[in-house]
Amino acid sequence: MENNKKIYIETYGCQMNFSDSEIVASILKENGYEYAENLMSADIIFVNTCSIRENAEDRVRKRLQYFKSLRKKRPELLIGLLGCMADRTKTALMEEEQLLDLVAGPDSYRHLPRLLAEVGTGRRAIDTILSMDETYADITPVRLDSNGVSAFISIMRGCENYCSYCVVPSTRGQERSRDAASIVRETNDLFEKGYREVTLLGQNVNSYSWKSGNGTITFPDLLGQVAAVSPLMRIRFATSHPKDISNELLETIARNHNLCKAIHLPVQSGSNHVLNLMNRKYTREDYQERIRSIRQIIPGCTISTDIISGFCDETEEDHRDTLSLMQWVGYDAAFMFKYSERPQTLAADTLSDNVPEDVKDRRLTEIIDLQQQLSLTNNQKDIGKEFEILIEGRSKRSENQYFGRNTHNKVAVFNKTDAGPGEYVTVKITGATSATLLGDVVL
Ligand code: SAH
Ligand code: SF4
Ligand code: F3S
Repeated sequence: MENNKKIYIETYGCQMNFSDSEIVASILKENGYEYAENLMSADIIFVNTCSIRENAEDRVRKRLQYFKSLRKKRPELLIGLLGCMADRTKTALMEEEQLLDLVAGPDSYRHLPRLLAEVGTGRRAIDTILSMDETYADITPVRLDSNGVSAFISIMRGCENYCSYCVVPSTRGQERSRDAASIVRETNDLFEKGYREVTLLGQNVNSYSWKSGNGTITFPDLLGQVAAVSPLMRIRFATSHPKDISNELLETIARNHNLCKAIHLPVQSGSNHVLNLMNRKYTREDYQERIRSIRQIIPGCTISTDIISGFCDETEEDHRDTLSLMQWVGYDAAFMFKYSERPQTLAADTLSDNVPEDVKDRRLTEIIDLQQQLSLTNNQKDIGKEFEILIEGRSKRSENQYFGRNTHNKVAVFNKTDAGPGEYVTVKITGATSATLLGDVVL
């Protein structure tokens, strides 16, 4: 089936959204659509959106204004809204903007060909119904913006943790796991195409569970199966919830060379008072106990995190608890955010967003400054060490340099050698900034 229409997808938000865009591209390709090389050559532009913070939505709204100007010049251009904002705003944005021809939520992508056909008859189309079982397991994603070395694989959808600040359970619906065999198959397929790194994605990968003929496949089981695809294929995953990360998982990582020694364990806050209000279901002490296990079972493992500053009722003391926990863990990296109240969340309904903006800003700055120091100190400790680096591509700064990552998810930059992207080299670290390691290839 060919229809000569070209689509382009612009993606915002998390890695899962990027992975979803690849699923959308695949579904539409199967239905005769082509992928446009750039925005300007597209007949249909999709925006795959994120609702996690207000500024994520603002960015999309601004972008829609730009698309409006494009449409003035090309009235036949179609614009579709996908992703979490599509689910959250349903028809509201369509009414407001008078621009969107189509709105499809995260579980409706299989229906895009039908929705586009409806649009073709001059109607506007919308489908934001969340599903209990959609995992797109059978769809082989078209890899977009790929470096040919690393790829993402969604292994679960939805989330039922209901952290009080978070919009995801409402935009992504019920948690469901994807057929393990299809995940292993996709990894195999990627390996054969030359990929050497996959990141398994889910909002809480530790609760992955798939019933197969001979029992239930848990996340450690799945990791074992994926690791067995090839010793040359590196496996990463995100995200782990501190309440569910088990020693069995840590032991599986320790046992397999190609399971990367880097764990992303979002803490959100170091204060029990705030963690409780956030409905995170662990205490500072529980979290510390998990960190001790990681350090003991996987020596040298790097640990990164997410932190929210200025959540409802956060006091100066709570904030200092966050700083002291950061120091105690000595995070290698962190994503740090200012609390942004989201509609239809527990916090919006039951708590007051009462930390003044300037206080949120100041606390966030202190958190970022501390992380900068921690990252620099940790990276400087790597000077003199040798790491196996998977080359990803040419460094942005210099034609003559490559960049790649070690198992600890740290980026290293080094002079080019005979080896190229997708190959492993041993690099001796000679210098470090808070963001990058610098080194020389020794092997
Ligand atoms: N499922 C993952 C994270 C998903 S969202 C987990 O549970 O860790 C990624 C990060 O965005 C969260 O870890 C949190 O730090 C941040 N975040 C989520 N909602 C937010 C909000 N309302 N305001 C600010 N940051 C938020
Ligand atoms: Fe949001 Fe919490 Fe689910 Fe993560 S675990 S997606 S923060 S509700
Ligand atoms: Fe991801 Fe944003 Fe949705 S973080 S799950 S795209 S709200």
